Amino acid sequence: MSITDRPGVTGMVCAACGTEVPIGAGALVCPASSPGDRRHVLHFVDSVAPFRPLDHPNPFVAYRAYLAVDAHGAAIGLDDERRLAVIEQLDAAVARVAGTGFRRTPLTRADRLSAALGFAPEGGIWVKDETQNVGGSHKARHLFTEMVQLLMSEAAGTSRWGGGPRPRLAIASCGNAAIAASTIAAAVGWPIDVFVPPSASQTVLDVLGSLRASVTVCPRRETDPAGDPCVIRFREAVAAGSVPFGVQGTENAWCRDGGRTLGWEISDEMGHRADRIFVQVGGGAFAACVGASLRNSGVHPMLHAVQAEGCAPLERAWRRAIATGGVDNVGARWSECMWPWEDEPRSLADGILDDETYDWIGVVDAMAHTGGSPVVAGEEHIVEAHRLAHAHTGIDVSPTGSAGLAGVLAIRDRIADAETVVVVFSGVRR
Ligand SMILES: Cc1ncc(COP(=O)(O)O)c(C=O)c1O
Ligand SMILES: [Zn+2]
Repeated sequence: MSITDRPGVTGMVCAACGTEVPIGAGALVCPASSPGDRRHVLHFVDSVAPFRPLDHPNPFVAYRAYLAVDAHGAAIGLDDERRLAVIEQLDAAVARVAGTGFRRTPLTRADRLSAALGFAPEGGIWVKDETQNVGGSHKARHLFTEMVQLLMSEAAGTSRWGGGPRPRLAIASCGNAAIAASTIAAAVGWPIDVFVPPSASQTVLDVLGSLRASVTVCPRRETDPAGDPCVIRFREAVAAGSVPFGVQGTENAWCRDGGRTLGWEISDEMGHRADRIFVQVGGGAFAACVGASLRNSGVHPMLHAVQAEGCAPLERAWRRAIATGGVDNVGARWSECMWPWEDEPRSLADGILDDETYDWIGVVDAMAHTGGSPVVAGEEHIVEAHRLAHAHTGIDVSPTGSAGLAGVLAIRDRIADAETVVVVFSGVRR
C-alpha cells in the first residue's frame, strides 16, 4: 500500500463551535476566533483506520501517514515525494543547527525508581526521555509540524504571502517552547520574535541569542489589559502580520499535530501493557496530543493530566464539566468551565504555570475516553518527584519535566503495585 492510499486526517473542526474547515485551507485558527475571543480550537478529524507506522527512526517519517500536515500537503497538490522531501530537508536543517535531527526518544523502565516507589517487578514506572529531543524538550515536536505546514504552503504556492517576503514568526514564551521555536526558525533562516517576561532566565536568553532570535522583554505597561504582557505583545505582532509560532492550539492548530508523535512512540513500544500515563499540563497542547495519539493508535492507558496546586485551572474545569452536564462534549461549555486562574500561579515546576489551559477540551476528552482523571500535585510532591528523578534515573530533568511523576506520588496509594505507569520527562534542567 502506498502512503497516499492510507487513511489519515480528513479535516479540521472547531471543538468549541463546531465550524468545519477543510484540511487544505491551511487555517491556523477557527474562522470564528478573534483576537478578543480565543475560546475556539481546531481539532483534527481522523478516519478510523488500522495503525501501521513505517519502521523509521525519524518519527515524522514513521508516522507521516497520520500527520495532518501530510494530509494538508496532499490536499494542496504536493505529491508524496515532495511532502517527504519537505520533512526530510527540514529535519536535516534542524540537525545542522541543533546537532541532532528528530529521532525516536528512549522509553525505558526506571528500575531503581520503580523499586523506590514500591512497584512489583511486573509493574513499575516507564520513563520517556524527551530531554534528548531537539532543543532539550518535547516542544520541538509541536513546532516542527507548524513549520512543515508553512513550508508546504510555500511549496504549493498557497501561502498567505505568495511569492512576497515572509512575515516574521512570533512566540510568547520564556523557556523550552521559545528555544524549540528559535531552533526550527534558525534552521530555515526565518526571522522570529520571542516575547519574554522580565524574569526570563539568563541561560535561556543566551540560548535564544545564539540562535539569533529577536528577543523582546515585556514588562507590564500601565495601559495593558489584564493578562500576560508577553501574550499581549505576541498578539499585537500577530495582528500586525506575524505568523503565530507558539505551542497553544488556540493560536496555531498545527502544534497539535506533531506533538502526537510522542504518544505514538509510546503506544508502539508499550502496546496494551501501559495501564496509566501521567502528563504534566501547562497550556495543555502536550497532554491533548498524547491523548489524541492514544485514540488513533487504539491503545488506551488511563490519561492523568497533572497540574501543580499553585495553578490548576484544568482540574477546576473537569469539576465544572461534571457539574454542568458531564465530561463528554465539553466544547460548547468553555466559559462555564475554563477561565484564567485568579491567584498568582506558583510552583517549582514553572513551565506549567499557564493561567489558562488553552487546549483543555482535548485533554478532558482524552481523560473521559480513557477513564482517566486530573491530578493536582502538592508542591511537596513536585519537589520530591524532582529529587527522586535525579536520585534514581540518570536523566537531568527539570522540575517541570518531572511533574508527571509528582502526579504518581500524589495518587500512589490508588495505583496497584503491578500496574505499568508511563511518565514523560519532558524537558532538561537549564
Ligand atoms: C518541559 C515541559 N513540560 C511540559 C510542559 C507543558 O506543556 P503544555 O504547555 O503543552 O501543557 C512544558 C511547557 O512549557 C514544558 O516546558
Ligand atoms: Zn470555533
